[in-house]
Amino acid sequence: MEYRQLGRSGLRVSTITLGTMGFGGTGWASAVGKIDVEGARRQIGLARDAGVNLIDTADVYSNGLSEEIVGQALGRDREDVLLATKVRMPMGEGPNDAGLSRHHIIRAAEASLRRLGTDHIDLYQVHEWDGQTPLEETLSALDALVQAGKVRYIGASNYAAWHLMKALGTSEHTGLSRFVSQQIYYSLQARDAETELVPVSIDQGLGILVWSPLAGGLLSGKYRRGVDAPAGSRHLSEWDEPPVHDEDKLYATIEVLVDIGAARGVSAAQIALAYIVGKPAVTSVIVGARTEDQLTDNLASAELALTDNEVSRLDEVSAQPLLYPYWHQAKTSADRLSPADLSLLGRHIG
Ligand SMILES: NC(=O)c1ccc[n+]([C@@H]2O[C@H](COP(=O)([O-])OP(=O)(O)OC[C@H]3O[C@@H](n4cnc5c(N)ncnc54)[C@H](OP(=O)(O)O)[C@@H]3O)[C@@H](O)[C@H]2O)c1
Repeated sequence: MEYRQLGRSGLRVSTITLGTMGFGGTGWASAVGKIDVEGARRQIGLARDAGVNLIDTADVYSNGLSEEIVGQALGRDREDVLLATKVRMPMGEGPNDAGLSRHHIIRAAEASLRRLGTDHIDLYQVHEWDGQTPLEETLSALDALVQAGKVRYIGASNYAAWHLMKALGTSEHTGLSRFVSQQIYYSLQARDAETELVPVSIDQGLGILVWSPLAGGLLSGKYRRGVDAPAGSRHLSEWDEPPVHDEDKLYATIEVLVDIGAARGVSAAQIALAYIVGKPAVTSVIVGARTEDQLTDNLASAELALTDNEVSRLDEVSAQPLLYPYWHQAKTSADRLSPADLSLLGRHIG
C-alpha cells in the first residue's frame, strides 16, 4: 500500500480509504448495504491487513448508525486508524439540525465523537456547501474544535472551486484552520472534476479523497450493454447517484475497462480504481463494498500500476468536451499556463 501526504498537511493516508456508507443500512442507505458490527469488523480487518489507514463515515449515514458501528467495530483498535467523518446534512427536523452554523457544527461534532466512541476526529469534513452561513462562522467553529483537540484536520466535500477559494481566502486572512482536503465525486463515468476541482487542488495544495470511484458500482464490469446485473446491485434500486448523461459512453468505457482487466487477469473494478488513483492531486479513493469479496477485489488494486497506453485508452474513451472559458484558453493562452491549468488543457494544446 502506498501512503500519500494529505494535501499540504503532514498526515499520510493510504491510497485506498474504507467507505462506510453501507454500515447500518437504514433509510436511503439501505440500497448501499446493511453491514452490521460483525460485518464491519471483518471489512475493517480486511482493509487494515491490506494497509488501509483511513476510514470515512458521516453523521448522516443511516442517521448516526454508521458512526456507531465504526466505533463498536474498532473498539480498542481506534488509535490504529484515522477516522474521517462529516457534518452538514440534516440530523433532525429542527431549523438548526442541519447546515454549517456554529450551533450545528459544535453539537454535531460532540454527537459524532459520542457515536464513534473516541475523543477526537482525525479529519472533520463539511459534507456540502452552505451558502447561507458566513464562512467566517463555519471556519471559526471548526477552528475551535481543532484548538480544543477534538478535531485534527478539516476538509471540505462537494464544494465548487469558487466555494473552496472563498474558504481558503477566509482562512488566510483570519488565521483560522485551513481545509487540507476536498472529498469529491470523480470517476471514469464523469470526469467533471478535472475542469476546476482538480486544478484548484493542484494550485492550492488540497488533497483529494474520491467518493464513488466506481460510480456506485457502474464501473465494476457487471453492468454491460445487454447484460443483466446481479440482483441486489445498487443501481437496480431507486439509487440515482451519479446521474448518467451519456449511457453510450458509459458502456463504451466499461468495455475498455473489461478488456484491460481481462488482459491482466484482474477485474474491471481494479482497473477503474487504479486509473483514478493515478490522476494528479488524488490522495486516496474511498471504496465502498457490499460484500467482503468486493472489498478484497478492490483492495488488490493497490498493487496495480497502469501503463501509459492503458491510461490513454481510458482517457480517450471517457473524454469530455472543454467548457468555456477553457476551450478559449486552450486556443489562446498556451504560452502562459501553470501546472494546474495544464492538468486540464495539456492534452488540448498539442
Ligand atoms: N462526500 C460525499 O458526498 C459522499 C457521497 C457518496 C459516498 N461517499 C463515501 O464514499 C464511499 C464509497 O462510495 P460508494 O460506495 O458509492 O463507492 P463505489 O466504490 O463507487 O461503489 C461501491 C459499490 O459498487 C459495488 N462494488 C464495489 N466493488 C465491487 C466489485 N469489486 N465488483 C462488483 N461490484 C462492486 C457495490 O455495490 P452493489 O453490490 O450494490 O452493486 C458497492 O457497494 C462511501 O462509503 C462514503 O464513505 C461520500
